[in-house]
Amino acid sequence: MNVMQFVLILLFMAVSGGSGQAAETTCRTAECHARVGGTKNFHEPVKEGDCSACHKPVNPVHPLKGGKSFAPVAKNEALCYLCHDRFGKKKVVHFPVKDGECAYCHKPHGGVERYLLGVGSDQRELCYGCHDPAPFKRKFVHGPVAVGECTKCHNPHESNNKALLSGAVWETCLKCHVDVVKALTESIYIHTPVKSGPCTVCHLPHSGEISSLLKKTTPALCLDCHKKMDKQLKAKNVHKPLLQEGGCSTCHSTHFAKAKKLLSGDDKTICLACHGTDKLGNPPLKNIKSEIEGKKYLHGPIQKGGCKDCHDPHGNDNFRLLKGKYPADIYAPYKDGIYSFCLSCHEKNMLRFSETTIYTKFRNGKRNLHYVHVVNNRKGRTCRVCHQPHASNGVKLIEKENLKFGEWQIPINFNETSTGGSCAPGCHQAFEYDRDKPVVYGGNPAKK
Ligand code: HEC
Ligand code: HEC
Ligand code: HEC
Ligand code: HEC
Ligand code: HEC
Ligand code: HEC
Ligand code: HEC
Ligand code: HEC
Ligand code: HEC
Ligand code: HEC
Ligand code: HEC
Ligand code: HEC
Ligand code: HEC
Repeated sequence: MNVMQFVLILLFMAVSGGSGQAAETTCRTAECHARVGGTKNFHEPVKEGDCSACHKPVNPVHPLKGGKSFAPVAKNEALCYLCHDRFGKKKVVHFPVKDGECAYCHKPHGGVERYLLGVGSDQRELCYGCHDPAPFKRKFVHGPVAVGECTKCHNPHESNNKALLSGAVWETCLKCHVDVVKALTESIYIHTPVKSGPCTVCHLPHSGEISSLLKKTTPALCLDCHKKMDKQLKAKNVHKPLLQEGGCSTCHSTHFAKAKKLLSGDDKTICLACHGTDKLGNPPLKNIKSEIEGKKYLHGPIQKGGCKDCHDPHGNDNFRLLKGKYPADIYAPYKDGIYSFCLSCHEKNMLRFSETTIYTKFRNGKRNLHYVHVVNNRKGRTCRVCHQPHASNGVKLIEKENLKFGEWQIPINFNETSTGGSCAPGCHQAFEYDRDKPVVYGGNPAKK
């Protein structure tokens, strides 16, 4: 036995029965195993020099050419479970963990940073070793994914939540999105799926082709749940902003809001944000803001701020998105139902009888002058000939010059009296009417 062999036998004894400290001083020297565990982030037993916690000598000769002097004290994951709690008790166990492949991810002696991994906090390289990287590399990448911090959301081993998430999806998201938490607690109206459902009904967690990590563009995204709206989008008349990408969001906030129906305020304010200009559309639509502002008389629903009482904000088959039938032109051959829009709020018998004492004040004696003007199956005058839809400076929503007739702004010159009124319109000679003492006309006014 030479000196070398003697030293080895001593070492063998030290390792198999002696203290870890003895093994450390002898195993990890400048000449031997200096690099075990890297340089900084040692596994705790390695740091303490307790090589024998994992390695047991099986041959007194070391180093042994062509053979092994040491064997692990247990095989594969069993070695790790000597000291660590066993995984597998939770509902979802990561496949390689179930398979005992601790070593695929962990270095037994030490790692680049914490956790004995071959990678630092950017775990992409590690995970992409088994997972297809494509879903993480689309145009818009989620912050934590972009820097590879997969375990900010996933437990790499096991979890009671689906997809190995460290908590329910909603809670996982709100861990970081504290601004959303704040808004959720402060808002009165919260969109149902945002309140309770997983955020992933609308968002992708990793990356996506659409901004804000949306699964689909709106309106398609919204229509998945709001199926009834599909009909409105296929209507003859669809409100333009809905057809634009992100269209729903021009009026609704998608998470929470201070006003009902997830609107940012009352509908008048929302609508006039766009309909307060002379340049909307081609040919341009009327500037509703200036139609209303400063006017003496506002049409009833507008006094209350409601454009939606008359217009469907989304789409329908009617002229100007009105919530009922209303003819588009100055004249319309009269048929039942074509004014159902106005008559849904106003006296439904207004146009029913040529004579009445109750259904309208626009009458000469009993003669119903609404009937006279409107109920004409060849050239019935539509309400717009006399009335403004939104507001006016004259009573009964009648402007002095009410309607543009081609190039000409037709004067109406309506004057109200306590029992009737008079008009000097561009349509016919001046006439008066009186409910109590019917005026007897010379000619035949407002020929039917
Ligand atoms: C927590 C358990 C553990 C501790 C503690 C430990 N090792 Fe290891 N070591 C392993 C495992 C696991 C392997 C890989 C075994 C295999 O692949 O067969 C290994 C492999 C080795 C190898 C083979 C070459 C290599 O790097 O793959 C050497 C040499 C080694 N260890 C030396 C040491 C020394 C020296 C110490 C003490 C400073 C030590 N080990 C502490 C678990 C440990
Ligand atoms: C002899 C006991 C022992 C064995 C065997 C053992 N470990 Fe450890 N391990 C520890 C101790 C002690 C710590 C430190 C725990 C702490 O800080 O709370 C630790 C910590 C870790 C850590 C965390 C490191 C960090 O930076 O926070 C990982 C990962 C780890 N072990 C993985 C393994 C794997 C994988 C195996 C099997 C190859 C294994 N361990 C085997 C004792 C052991
Ligand atoms: C798919 C890769 C992967 C596999 C397989 C894996 N781990 Fe881990 N492990 C990690 C990552 C990543 C971390 C760091 C977690 C973090 O960032 O919070 C970690 C952390 C740990 C820790 C320290 C933190 C903790 O959760 O207690 C221990 C201990 C550990 N792993 C043990 C094991 C054991 C034992 C096995 C095998 C049964 C194993 N790991 C298999 C990736 C893996
Ligand atoms: C912001 C949190 C978050 C981060 C960070 C994150 N994920 Fe996920 N991951 C999720 C959620 C949530 C699901 C479940 C998706 C669902 O419900 O459809 C998921 C699902 C998965 C799935 C299951 C298959 C699938 O796509 O549904 C894999 C695999 C996955 N993630 C891997 C990764 C990897 C790899 C990383 C790092 C590159 C990562 N994740 C980063 C939240 C995250
Ligand atoms: C050694 C290979 C391997 C590595 C490395 C790996 N995974 Fe997996 N992972 C799998 C396999 C296999 C499945 C099961 C795939 C399946 O069911 O389609 C899986 C499934 C998953 C799932 C879905 C679990 C479920 O049941 O829904 C998530 C999330 C996941 N891995 C995340 C990660 C993350 C994060 C990393 C990196 C820290 C990672 N994986 C690294 C092999 C691996
Ligand atoms: C670890 C922290 C973290 C977690 C967990 C997290 N996020 Fe994020 N998220 C971020 C960061 C950081 C950004 C980028 C913020 C920025 O650009 O202002 C971001 C951005 C976003 C964006 C905007 C992306 C864009 O292109 O504008 C959405 C949407 C989002 N996260 C949804 C989610 C959802 C859904 C979840 C849960 C599955 C989630 N986040 C979980 C950190 C996180
Ligand atoms: C009903 C679909 C839907 C749900 C559910 C949803 N979002 Fe969103 N989210 C959107 C849309 C659409 C956008 C795009 C911006 C917009 O139109 O308001 C968005 C934008 C974001 C943004 C980026 C813009 C911003 O406001 O900072 C973040 C972050 C975000 N969502 C987080 C979340 C979180 C966290 C949850 C779960 C609590 C969640 N979202 C639930 C539809 C949704
Ligand atoms: C995952 C399903 C889902 C998706 C996707 C979704 N919603 Fe909803 N939304 C609901 C549910 C559930 C309600 C509440 C039930 C109801 O009143 O119909 C609701 C209610 C609403 C309301 C009425 C709120 C109130 O106070 O009455 C509006 C407005 C709305 N959603 C707009 C949108 C918009 C815009 C989108 C697309 C960005 C969208 N929703 C996407 C499920 C969804
Ligand atoms: C021009 C503004 C505007 C746009 C764009 C818009 N909405 Fe609305 N939406 C409203 C208003 C105003 C209401 C309230 C109607 C009411 O109370 O009668 C409303 C109500 C709703 C409601 C509640 C159900 C109801 O009829 O009361 C849902 C759901 C809804 N909108 C979904 C959507 C979706 C999905 C989109 C995109 C396809 C969208 N909205 C686009 C203005 C808009
Ligand atoms: C985001 C801007 C925007 C908002 C907000 C908006 N609109 Fe519009 N609206 C338009 C555009 C653009 C058109 C089409 C102009 C054109 O091309 O003729 C239009 C057209 C209309 C029309 C005429 C439709 C037709 O068939 O001729 C009505 C009526 C209307 N909007 C009412 C409303 C009401 C009521 C609101 C509030 C609930 C509202 N709008 C909010 C942009 C908007
Ligand atoms: C009392 C019912 C009613 C209310 C309330 C109402 N509208 Fe109208 N609106 C109409 C009628 C009727 C027309 C068709 C006028 C015509 O062509 O003679 C119309 C036409 C329009 C047009 C098309 C203008 C054009 O160029 O011909 C727009 C835009 C419009 N309204 C926006 C609004 C906005 C914005 C509000 C809320 C501030 C609103 N409306 C409130 C009944 C109403
Ligand atoms: C959503 C309900 C609603 C619709 C639709 C509606 N109105 Fe009105 N209208 C009102 C209310 C409310 C008032 C004010 C209450 C009142 O003085 O009778 C009013 C007042 C009027 C007045 C003034 C009456 C007066 O005595 O000062 C006229 C004229 C009028 N509407 C015409 C119309 C015409 C024409 C239409 C169809 C183009 C129409 N309205 C559609 C609700 C409506
Ligand atoms: C030829 C002009 C003219 C036409 C066309 C016209 N109106 Fe009138 N309308 C009047 C006059 C004038 C009054 C005022 C009656 C009074 O109070 O003396 C009036 C009053 C009203 C009133 C107040 C209640 C009442 O009946 O006295 C309503 C509501 C009304 N009109 C609705 C309509 C509707 C709806 C139409 C279309 C179907 C219409 N008007 C068509 C001239 C007209």
